[in-house]
Amino acid sequence: MNFEDKVVYQIYLKSFYDSDQDGLGDLNGVIEKLDYLDYVGVNCLWITPFFVSPQNDNGYDVANYCAIDPRYGTMEIFEKLVKEAKKRNIDIMLDMVFNHTSTQHEWFQKALAGDTKYKNYYFFKKGKPDGTPPTNWASKFGGNAWQYVEEMGEYYLHLFDKTQADLNWDNKEVRDELCKVLNFWLKKGVYGFRFDVVNLISKPTIFMDDFEGDGRTYYTDGTHVHEYLQEINQRSFGNDEHIITVGEMSSTSLENCVKYAGKEDHELSMVFNFHHLKVDYKDKQKWVLKEFDFEELTSLLHTWQVEMENKHAWNALFWCNHDQPRALSRFGDDKNYPIESGKMLATMLHCMRGTPYIYQGEEIGMTNAYFTKIDEYRDVESTNYFQILKQQGVNEKEIYHILQERSRDNSRTPIQWNDGLHAGFSKVTPWSQVIHNYHTINVEASKRDPNSILQHYRKLIKLRKEYKVISLGSYKPLLENHKQVFAYKREYEGESMIVINNFYGQKTSVHLEEGGYTSLLSNYPKREYQKVMELEPYESIVFYKK
Ligand code: GLC
Repeated sequence: MNFEDKVVYQIYLKSFYDSDQDGLGDLNGVIEKLDYLDYVGVNCLWITPFFVSPQNDNGYDVANYCAIDPRYGTMEIFEKLVKEAKKRNIDIMLDMVFNHTSTQHEWFQKALAGDTKYKNYYFFKKGKPDGTPPTNWASKFGGNAWQYVEEMGEYYLHLFDKTQADLNWDNKEVRDELCKVLNFWLKKGVYGFRFDVVNLISKPTIFMDDFEGDGRTYYTDGTHVHEYLQEINQRSFGNDEHIITVGEMSSTSLENCVKYAGKEDHELSMVFNFHHLKVDYKDKQKWVLKEFDFEELTSLLHTWQVEMENKHAWNALFWCNHDQPRALSRFGDDKNYPIESGKMLATMLHCMRGTPYIYQGEEIGMTNAYFTKIDEYRDVESTNYFQILKQQGVNEKEIYHILQERSRDNSRTPIQWNDGLHAGFSKVTPWSQVIHNYHTINVEASKRDPNSILQHYRKLIKLRKEYKVISLGSYKPLLENHKQVFAYKREYEGESMIVINNFYGQKTSVHLEEGGYTSLLSNYPKREYQKVMELEPYESIVFYKK
């Protein structure tokens, strides 16, 4: 496979660009912005789901995998997008939500109507003798994971929203249907797939209460997951070695990821894991705030880098996506050092071993939304948790503070294209409010400013294409006990590269090995290599020697 020098750009379609003035981004909007994406330099676009859907979870509740929601476009427009992107050497990656379907999906509707064939596509179960749900598992969006259907006298399983019913992958007919979907899109010229929460697809045969957690130990990285991934690989994308696949792995383990993304295992090209994005969760709880733990962050990143390399497996590298708050607001300083810390986070990630993913807006330094009213929040998880936290007795001021840090809406606001009406995203009121800082943070301004974060991303993408040490080099942790610097060394056939990143707004110093290095990229005026270096706030430097 040949994805080492590629950079993927994630498009959250609803917020990317509205071409038909209905307040929602759309496929035509992507076509209109292809020249911009080409200018950024990315090679592949992961587009979040645009299939027919009631949109209870913004398209992650799919009602028809092979039809396009008219709000987003038509099949013709999609085909044009594939063609137009190809002209610019950009491939299209689709988002396959195969752990569950919308309850509006024809299969689920038939199941509800009593068709046994389709009932077996899902998990329908009787409650416990006292009428309570079959297990005490929690839905990831709050509440119990089972929904009662009065007319049937049975519950169905939904690990996410109650309108997202989990599919039964143990049923071969389900796997056949899903392979058909993949082959349908492959024929349309799609060159990659992202698989939503794909490590949750293999459920246990016996459903039991979880007295220690929320149920995840029973279905995460389940018994048959590797087998099922190998099967769909063989029956669809595995036939073409150029196809890129990435699995989203929820609460996974390194041991499993080595297999999911191992060269020899024929499952997926690479994986997203989220351990490094839980270092600011208090006791692993998303809705309890804590300062991020630098030591935990760096030790996780080093360990995954080293172990994945040792086992010949490949990482997907990312800070941001549509489920995460903006990294600049989270790990950087979006008020005092937005440019420096935005560039530092970019360099640190893009020079590691793996395929980097840029989430729309990250490349121009978009920040969290900092909404202050509940009616500005759109996401089902945020609105559910607003109520849950209230019931838990958390006061409203604190709840807003938590949402401003953790809500998925933080990264789902419209892209700030310019400083005009609605930030140039649409001419009508957008589905989600534009962030107030669009007058200064926007694409047009970033294109004009040679010192912008955008220009830094462009340089990083160019370097990855030019320097094999970035795309193919080995990885070695450096300065492991440093309290504020994350550093590593990459090596490849006589080339070596040292990357040092100050993660804080305070100056610090580092002791480096013998010299001979020159600076390849930095976020302050060019620096000479020295054995002892004083680093500025959020300073980040890439040194190189051959
Ligand atoms: C994934 C998606 C997220 C969605 C969930 C359920 O985590 O990225 O947006 O809500 O799966 O499909």
